[in-house]
Amino acid sequence: MLSMNKMRFSAILSMVLFAATVYSQKAGDNGISVSEKAKIDALINAMTLEEKVGQLSLYQADWDVTGPILNTNHLNLIKEGKAGAIFNAYTVDGVRHLQQMAVEESRLKIPLIFGYDVIHGHRTIFPIPLAQSCSWNLSAIEQTERIAAREATAEGLNWTFAPMVDISRDPRWGRVAEGAGEDTWLGCKVAAARVRGFQGTDYKAGNTLMACTKHFAAYGAPQAGREYGTVDMSMISLYEWYLPPFRACVDAGVGSLMTAFNEIAGVPSTANKWLMTDLLRKDWGFHGFVVTDYTSINEMVDHGNAENIKDAARLAFNAGVDMDMEGSAFLDYLPGLLKEKKVTLQDIDHAVRLILEAKTKLGLFDDPYRYCNKSRQEKEVMTAENLDFARKMVSESCVLLKNPDQVLPISENVRSIAIIGPLGDSKKDMLGNWTAAGNWEKCITLVEGIKSRVKDEVEVYYEKGCNTNDNDRSGFDAAVKIAEKADFVVLAMGENGWMSGEASSRSSIGIPGVQNELAEIIIKTGKPVALVLFNGRPLVITKMAALPLAILETWFGGTQAGNGIADVLFGVVNPAGKITMTFPRNEGQIPIFYNGKNTGRPLNPADSSDRYLSRYLDCPNDPLFPFGYGLSYTKFTYSNLRTTVDGNKINVAVQVANSGNRDGEEVVQLYVRDKVGSVTRPVKELKGFQKVLIKKGETKTITFNLTTDDLAFYHPDLKKYWEPGEFVVFVGTNSAETLSESITVK
Ligand code: BGC
Repeated sequence: MLSMNKMRFSAILSMVLFAATVYSQKAGDNGISVSEKAKIDALINAMTLEEKVGQLSLYQADWDVTGPILNTNHLNLIKEGKAGAIFNAYTVDGVRHLQQMAVEESRLKIPLIFGYDVIHGHRTIFPIPLAQSCSWNLSAIEQTERIAAREATAEGLNWTFAPMVDISRDPRWGRVAEGAGEDTWLGCKVAAARVRGFQGTDYKAGNTLMACTKHFAAYGAPQAGREYGTVDMSMISLYEWYLPPFRACVDAGVGSLMTAFNEIAGVPSTANKWLMTDLLRKDWGFHGFVVTDYTSINEMVDHGNAENIKDAARLAFNAGVDMDMEGSAFLDYLPGLLKEKKVTLQDIDHAVRLILEAKTKLGLFDDPYRYCNKSRQEKEVMTAENLDFARKMVSESCVLLKNPDQVLPISENVRSIAIIGPLGDSKKDMLGNWTAAGNWEKCITLVEGIKSRVKDEVEVYYEKGCNTNDNDRSGFDAAVKIAEKADFVVLAMGENGWMSGEASSRSSIGIPGVQNELAEIIIKTGKPVALVLFNGRPLVITKMAALPLAILETWFGGTQAGNGIADVLFGVVNPAGKITMTFPRNEGQIPIFYNGKNTGRPLNPADSSDRYLSRYLDCPNDPLFPFGYGLSYTKFTYSNLRTTVDGNKINVAVQVANSGNRDGEEVVQLYVRDKVGSVTRPVKELKGFQKVLIKKGETKTITFNLTTDDLAFYHPDLKKYWEPGEFVVFVGTNSAETLSESITVK
């Protein structure tokens, strides 16, 4: 009976396909040609309702020593054609095995998509995304995703749950590690670069991944920085600060979007019709599909907007969700909801179409094993070239926060170095969060990086001294001993690799455990000390920063962490990174960000006696380190800011001199303040930057060309336009140290 049905189906399908080939091949808006559309139509016509909702279902694989495994239930779903995609399964053999089940055992032979959280590299792990954003090097960021895509597709994958583009102003939230920091303008540029890097120009190239921008939307603004917390903000803030990076991804052609766990204005994102249908598809013209976050449909029962999972499935589906991650809510309830006329067949068909279109674009119908190429897996993963690039990315992502008396770079005269701290030789911590298929055993630690850089010429001692996060002081004495006998001390301290990322909110974000105490004791030896910080978020390091030591912020550097950091410590690379999130003085200042409002009672720095201003009684308003801040081993001096306005064009020029004694790169930053707006404007907004190499003794003229479009902002009617009037243009080395000039734009 079954085989009769199969035969009948394939006869019908080939007739339809034959008819389809005579159509024109012109691709539509969604990148699907007419003949491809006809194939999709034929498939949809041939599918049962169960097979349709199966396409809308995404399931997770587990792992054992042999590779990815699925439980029997999930395996049966694949064979019955009731799974559209699988995540967390990779390697050529693992994927081939599962794909074979889909295309050989299921009735309609529809291939599966294989997704994974390729967040900062696949096997070659790059610095965490927040670190990469501190490089302000968009083409390098794009290149990390290009490499990640090449490696991931060589291991069977074709879909990544990245980029995460959530803007966040709250370092208590652990997922700031995955984003590009607090600034929307920069966030948009980074987001688009990542999509370009993953997707390339041709989905079907076989070495590009479909990207999935997440988490739609505003997940980065949970109350009190607490993971999965409630988000509540004005529509203007949402439009102005949180949505633009998603729009930038849509404009860059991203193939899919993921919903967020949080609610927005009382409606969970996963049930938010306005967000997913009106804004995303109607306004922005998004043609791809929307997947939920992990069981976020089911979680609506706890949110309290759905009585039960069935109701949640109805809400999510009717709001515009196309694929259900792991929760089985669509598979279990859409057929019943259709019977009850609570969802329509037309909408189900449409969602199925979007999934089949993605499979078509990925070339899976041409060859379901397109991403299962053993020789690519052997040749293209963790190549010397990829590792070299990762090393470069580590040094580009480092930010020199303090360098009193030019403690760094480590002088050539140093003959012995003591490395002290729990993160000095901990391979496991180097990858940070979301390590994908990265193998921590292959990571280069700081001890290894320093040893291989100095070879036998310098004695290198190591003592852990303490753990990252407990009160054990038993290692202090041994640490002091090696500090005393060394010419130079490197402290390797911070958070461990799992203290940031998902489900890693912290209410106090200092350096944990007894590390501060150990640092204070080591400083007393009088040796020159450089602190190498490892962390996934800005930390409160006010006490540490008051000590006489250099501080190099290195985040979590990934596979090549130790080598890249050593390049900076020894001056092979002159650091040029700039922080993309503000470092607060204490947790009470959070949320803290550079582009706040002036208020009606702005602080007057010249008069600290006035109490009735917007201020704290016990702490300055300004942060420890402002957005855009970072030092170099050389010195840059800014002069001659000139601004001209010509019609709708604003041209800005500034001279930047390298007045130190080594070549260096500088991130020259341009900010604008709109003095009077019908909606009040921030005290400063980033509108441009240039990362330039300036040789020692050289002066470069840096120019920026803005137009009045760059001055536009959202109004209460959610329309974006600019208002003529007075503006201040700022150019400088960070958001707080700038030259400025007022201009009038009519
Ligand atoms: C995270 C997503 C991730 C998904 C799948 C969720 O918990 O929020 O960012 O893509 O898991 O791993």
